[in-house]
Amino acid sequence: MDAIEALVTRKSSAMLTTPAPSKDDLKTMMQAAVRAPDHCRLRPWRFIVIEGAAREKLGRIFGEALKVREPDATEAMLQKERGKPMRAPLVIAVIAKIEAHPKVPEVEQILSAGAAAQNIMLAAHALGYAGIWRTGKTCFDPQVNAALGAAETDQIVGFLYLGTAERVPVLLEEPVDAYVEIWGE
Ligand SMILES: Cc1cc2nc3c(=O)[nH]c(=O)nc-3n(C[C@H](O)[C@H](O)[C@H](O)COP(=O)(O)O)c2cc1C
Repeated sequence: MDAIEALVTRKSSAMLTTPAPSKDDLKTMMQAAVRAPDHCRLRPWRFIVIEGAAREKLGRIFGEALKVREPDATEAMLQKERGKPMRAPLVIAVIAKIEAHPKVPEVEQILSAGAAAQNIMLAAHALGYAGIWRTGKTCFDPQVNAALGAAETDQIVGFLYLGTAERVPVLLEEPVDAYVEIWGE
């Protein structure tokens, strides 16, 4: 797919099925990720690919973290939480690796990791896959952070749920001009 076509047609899909991105396509997506802009070349990102049975392991981590966040969570709530990573055949956790830097504040490092995440989503779309970027309380949970091997100072910027769209998403018209101002006239 042409780059501009990919940019102007990307749409999230929550209902995902197989096939997941192939090994080769995943590599292309990662190459796109590391082209994200990055102030002072800190490479402030880490990508954890979670596929197949590893999704169940991630689900157990989500469930245990929910038990701590919400000690009164019912078994139904825990089951739902454990099942979340199963909503796509492949999940990528994108983590911003934050370091103290005299020129690059934390927000810029998070933005870089976010740009890398979006590059992954766009590359996936251009390759014919679909997905959705999700966060929620798990991204701000110290127990989930630790289970993924992230430092306390790191920030999970999202879980990218990826696969093939069950239904072709409908693109709604976007009122682009409503967000754009020509300044200084
Ligand atoms: C940082 C970030 C976190 C998000 N977290 C969630 C989430 O937890 N759950 C969700 O349904 N959508 C979440 N979204 C929104 C979806 O990824 C998606 O953008 C939204 O459903 C609109 O669809 P569109 O991307 O096709 O416009 C998040 C988006 C961003 C950028």
